[in-house]
Amino acid sequence: MTATIPSDKDRVIIFDTTLRDGEQCPGATMTFEEKLEVASLLDAMGVDVIEAGFPIASDGDFAAVHEIAKRAKNAVICGLSRAGAKDIDRCAEAIRPAKQGRIHTFLSTSPVHMKYKLQMDAEQVYQLVISAVTRARNHTDNVEWSSEDGTRTEFDFLCKCVEAAIKAGATTINIPDTVGYSVPEEYYDLFKRVRENVPNSDKAVFSVHCHDDLGMAVANSLAGIRGGARQIECTVNGIGERAGNTALEEVVMAMRVRNDKLPFWNKIDTTMLTRASKVVSAATSFPVQYNKAIVGRNAFAHESGIHQDGMLKNAETYEIMRPESVGVKQTSLVMGKHSGRHAFVHKLEEMGYKLGQNQLEDAFVRFKALADRKKEIYDEDIEALVDQEIAQS
Ligand code: KIV
Ligand code: ZN
Repeated sequence: MTATIPSDKDRVIIFDTTLRDGEQCPGATMTFEEKLEVASLLDAMGVDVIEAGFPIASDGDFAAVHEIAKRAKNAVICGLSRAGAKDIDRCAEAIRPAKQGRIHTFLSTSPVHMKYKLQMDAEQVYQLVISAVTRARNHTDNVEWSSEDGTRTEFDFLCKCVEAAIKAGATTINIPDTVGYSVPEEYYDLFKRVRENVPNSDKAVFSVHCHDDLGMAVANSLAGIRGGARQIECTVNGIGERAGNTALEEVVMAMRVRNDKLPFWNKIDTTMLTRASKVVSAATSFPVQYNKAIVGRNAFAHESGIHQDGMLKNAETYEIMRPESVGVKQTSLVMGKHSGRHAFVHKLEEMGYKLGQNQLEDAFVRFKALADRKKEIYDEDIEALVDQEIAQS
C-alpha cells in the first residue's frame, strides 16, 4: 500500500490563544513566568501561531508578549489589537523581537455590536477596517483581521469588509463565532460562501474561531475547515471567555483519529497534549473535568466489567486511540464495584499475587463487598484484602 503524502492545501494551521482568549476568562490570570512556561511548551509542541496576549491591555501583557517573542524558536508570535492606531503600534512594538511576528487586529461587524458597542455606522466600520489593516501592514507583512461577531454579521457587509481587509493587505481572515451561536452546517456554509463571493479570497488564509456557549465549538471549527478555512484558533483545555473556546487537543485528535472523514493535517506533536493540559491547568488553577475528551483523567479509564474484559482481550474494543498517542502512559482499569473477575485477576497479576482457585474466589467476593461500600478502591485496599485472605487460608 502506498502512503498518502499530505499536501499543503490540506494543512491546518494551529493558532493557540490560551495566553490571550484563554487568559481572558474569569479567574484564569497567569503570571509572567507561567506565561513563558506555557508558551515554551506550545512552541515545542508544534503550535504554528501563539497569540501571546493583548499588548495594549496592560504593561504586564506587553512584557509577556515581548519576552515570548524574544524566546520563541519556531512559532509565529502574535499580539491582539483593536483597530485604533495606538493599539496597533503597541502591538507591533511587543512582537518586534520575534523571528516571525503577526499583528491580529479586530473590529465588530454585526448590527448589534456596531450599534451598541461601537456606536458607529457601517460606513465608519468599513473605513476603520481599511485603516487598521493598512496601519498593521506598515509594521509587518503578517496581518490577521477578524470580523468580531462575524457569525451574526449581515452577509453582504461581511463580504465587503473581508474584501477590503484583503485588499489592504490582511494575510489571514478570521470569522469568529464570538458568542458561540452558530451550528456546524451554517458555519460550513459561511466559509464556503464568503470564499466564493469575495474577489481574491485565495490571497488570504481563512480562519475559524469558535466559542462554546452551545457546546459546539469543536464541531463548528471542523465544519469551517471543511468549508475551506485552514486555520483553527483554539486553547488548551478549551479555556476562554464564558463557556470557553475550541479545545486544541480535541480538534487535533479529531483530525488524527478521523482523518478518513476529516482529511486534514497539522504539525502538533500529540504526545505532548496531556502535559500541556496539566501545565495550563496548574498555571490557571482551572481543574480539568474528569470526563474531558482526550485529557480528562477518565479519558482512558474503564471501570465496567464488560468494558474491562473487552479491553483485556483487545484495546480496540473500547478505545479509539492509544493513550500513548496523547502522552498518557497506559489505559487504566479502575477497580470498583463494576469490575469483573477478569480485571480482578489481571490486577492481582500486575501486583505480583498468585492465588489458588478457592483463595481467588473468596478474595473476589470480599473485593465486591468492599467496592459496594467504597467509592474508590486503591491498590492498598486490594493488598490488605488479599494478604488477609492468604493469612486465613
Ligand atoms: O471571540 C472573538 O471574536 C475574539 C476576537 C478578538 C478574535 O476573540
Ligand atoms: Zn474569542
